[in-house]
Amino acid sequence: MPGIILKNVTKRWGAVTAVDNVSLEVEDGEFVAFLGPSGCGKTTTMRLVAGLEQITEGEIYIGDRLVNEVDPRKRDVSMVFQNYSLFPHMTVRNNLAYPLKVSKVPRADHERMISDTSKMVELSDLLDRKPAELSGGQRQRVALGRAIIRRPKVFLMDEPLSNMDAILRQSMRAELKNLHHRLKVTTIYVTHDQVEAMTLATRVAVMKNGVLQQFDQPSAIFENPATSFVAGFVGAPAMNLIEGEIHNRRFASALINCPMETDFEGMVTLGVRPLDIHVCGRDEACGVGRIYSSEMTGEQTIVTVANGKQQISLKESKDVSRPIDDELHFRFERGRCFFFDVDDGRRLAI
Ligand SMILES: Nc1ncnc2c1ncn2[C@@H]1O[C@H](COP(=O)(O)OP(=O)(O)OP(=O)(O)O)[C@@H](O)[C@H]1O
Ligand SMILES: [Mg+2]
Repeated sequence: MPGIILKNVTKRWGAVTAVDNVSLEVEDGEFVAFLGPSGCGKTTTMRLVAGLEQITEGEIYIGDRLVNEVDPRKRDVSMVFQNYSLFPHMTVRNNLAYPLKVSKVPRADHERMISDTSKMVELSDLLDRKPAELSGGQRQRVALGRAIIRRPKVFLMDEPLSNMDAILRQSMRAELKNLHHRLKVTTIYVTHDQVEAMTLATRVAVMKNGVLQQFDQPSAIFENPATSFVAGFVGAPAMNLIEGEIHNRRFASALINCPMETDFEGMVTLGVRPLDIHVCGRDEACGVGRIYSSEMTGEQTIVTVANGKQQISLKESKDVSRPIDDELHFRFERGRCFFFDVDDGRRLAI
């Protein structure tokens, strides 16, 4: 089974650059998630790999084969589309059987494969329905089943869980994780859901405006973000990003006045995760503000502290409830502050 290589891949439509000079290598058998906000170029990148769009510049390899000019049907990729693309006149059973017919799997095997796959995606009871008689989440499971029923060289999945409710999504996520472990088919998985990306993928490619921001293991994306965009995109709630000035080894902003071990002077964006901020007494404080909100989520309480327009969120235990407008002092966990360039968001080694 081959990996996938993107070399300086760009896709333009007139003035729109959907994918901007992206290079990355997906290893054989790897599960890579493309993560980013709406419009950042995730689907386009995937469609370029599938051969459904023409590359403007650059090269794509599947295994060691340059596929720029290879017909989509000859790439041996199986794709789950964002909008399902099921055959409306066919039952679920026939939708699942379709890829088996196209790839000439012996008829005797169809029934068993349809049965195994429909169990995997929890569709066994719906095999005789047509797409119009299914909910969005059920349709999406048919699309997923149709992609996994045969074993292609590459799976391309575009938000395959997006129309399911939270509970089903969680069980399908576990199913996909287990499936990949068993099949070990090279997979590109597109999502704007950071939890999906972080939990499923061996590596995550974070995109913004067509540009690859970082391509790394989930733990590195979380612990070692390359840009303020990546830092602000993962984690729930996301990393706090606070603009301020470092002068004479102190960082100062509306909320914060705190010593920093650095010789850097000037404006920076400070990044600190909610779980690395602790409530403390005035003496040890890095900052102070008034409580803006206190939200108990069931497992924890998210407290947001504000001074004017500047806000910072921290995590506390679920037993904590803080009155709005009270004053709160906080400090940062040692060694857990990140600094980013205020203009381009690059991580600064300071
Ligand atoms: N056929 C097209 N012609 C012109 N522009 C397009 C075309 N398809 C996509 N785009 C533009 O390319 C950019 C990237 O689109 P793409 O569909 O790849 O985003 P995405 O990351 O998948 O977003 P979403 O999460 O909303 O699905 C967008 O600005 C989009 O408007
Ligand atoms: Mg998309």
